[in-house]
Amino acid sequence: MSFQKPKGTQDVLPGTVERWQFIEEHAREVCRRFLYREIRTPIFESTELFQRGVGETTDVVEKEMYTFIDRGKRSVTLRPEGTAGVVRAFVENKLYAEPELTKLFYIGPMFRYEQPQAGRYRQFHQFGIEAFGSHDPALDAEVVALGQQFYQALGLRGVSLEINSVGTPVSRASYRGALLAFLEPKRHLLCRDCLSRMERNPIRVLDCKVDQEHFHGAPALLEHLDEESAAHFAKVQSYLDQMGIAYEINPKLVRGLDYYTHTAFEFKAAGIGTIDTIGGGGRYNGLVSEIGGPEHCGVGFGLGLERVLLVLENQGIELPVNMRPLVYFVTMGEEAEQSAMRLLYELRKAGVAAEKDYGGRKMKAQLKSADRLQAKYAAILGEDELKRNEIILKSLATGEQETISPQNLQEHLIKYSR
Ligand code: HAM
Repeated sequence: MSFQKPKGTQDVLPGTVERWQFIEEHAREVCRRFLYREIRTPIFESTELFQRGVGETTDVVEKEMYTFIDRGKRSVTLRPEGTAGVVRAFVENKLYAEPELTKLFYIGPMFRYEQPQAGRYRQFHQFGIEAFGSHDPALDAEVVALGQQFYQALGLRGVSLEINSVGTPVSRASYRGALLAFLEPKRHLLCRDCLSRMERNPIRVLDCKVDQEHFHGAPALLEHLDEESAAHFAKVQSYLDQMGIAYEINPKLVRGLDYYTHTAFEFKAAGIGTIDTIGGGGRYNGLVSEIGGPEHCGVGFGLGLERVLLVLENQGIELPVNMRPLVYFVTMGEEAEQSAMRLLYELRKAGVAAEKDYGGRKMKAQLKSADRLQAKYAAILGEDELKRNEIILKSLATGEQETISPQNLQEHLIKYSR
């Protein structure tokens, strides 16, 4: 009998995991600069949270959730996204009572039952941020800026930013009428999903993946913005201009989740195929109260980390990840083994990445391992060296050797590692 990983999941093996670690550390570092602090919420939440939070008529809730009844007969769902859980935690822990803004980030797995393909998985990982407590459009612009800096500092090329305003529930009501008037005569051309969305949530229709060709000339939400929304959107743009962040206004951008108000945005990467959205987010002013909290506003994003890795790979961008040992001990004889164990222990304690041979192999085989692991030095210790209280330190890059005393090894290596 043999087992395989579930469809749409990935094993992250040594060799690749270092890239993940690097990206995660990088996300933490960017958050530190913008004063976003980490929050860790459960991987599963009550199903109702996502139904209410993400929206009943979204693809995510209608078709993609991993939902099951637990042994206590509760319906629970593996989180398909991070925002609903963070908002739940924000409300439950009364973080809104704090006088300052609450600026949070998270990195972790999300689950959606989607058709897997390159860049689309059933378990995937997001780096997300959520900022609560201000209507100021500067906060929307800050969220965008954080995402842009995250990509930029990793060296990603060809990342574009699309923005839109989806207005307020009031402006959307006026838009709804205009959109339905446009869609009615095309009813016979549209897919079943679109027809159902026309009844339940017409704005979602424009998000359809198969019917785009029928939407040319559709009224734009932007033309129906109320004054407040239009002013907010103009301010967001002016701040982005100030920061020199390039963007394009995409009046069709509606996002796949229902909680957005005002700003909506997506980051796209060139050259990774049709699934090119590497991140997205926006403002969600009604969500906190929808989930049982006070009237409170928020704005944030979620960036797909698998997609970031894909872009890095496609663009041949090397990350400075280093799992190489500084030194590899090559030993001959029982006594040398004993000394090497002690020296290795001390070096590791002092912070040096060091390795030795296991299994008493021939010297040639040991040196080969040192090469394979890309050690910088081999520390050669045989019976003769032991007798003379010496150790041979060989640079594996140049072949140069020097003889030092074991007592000085640590000092030498630490100096060389700088
Ligand atoms: P989202 O657009 O559904 O937004 O997802 C954000 C990002 O997660 C996408 O742009 C994509 O990079 C990645 N992603 C989504 N689904 C998959 C998948 N099946 N496989 C691989 N990557 C995927 C949200 O989730 C919102 N919670 C973002 C947000 C936070 N808005 C406000 N705050």
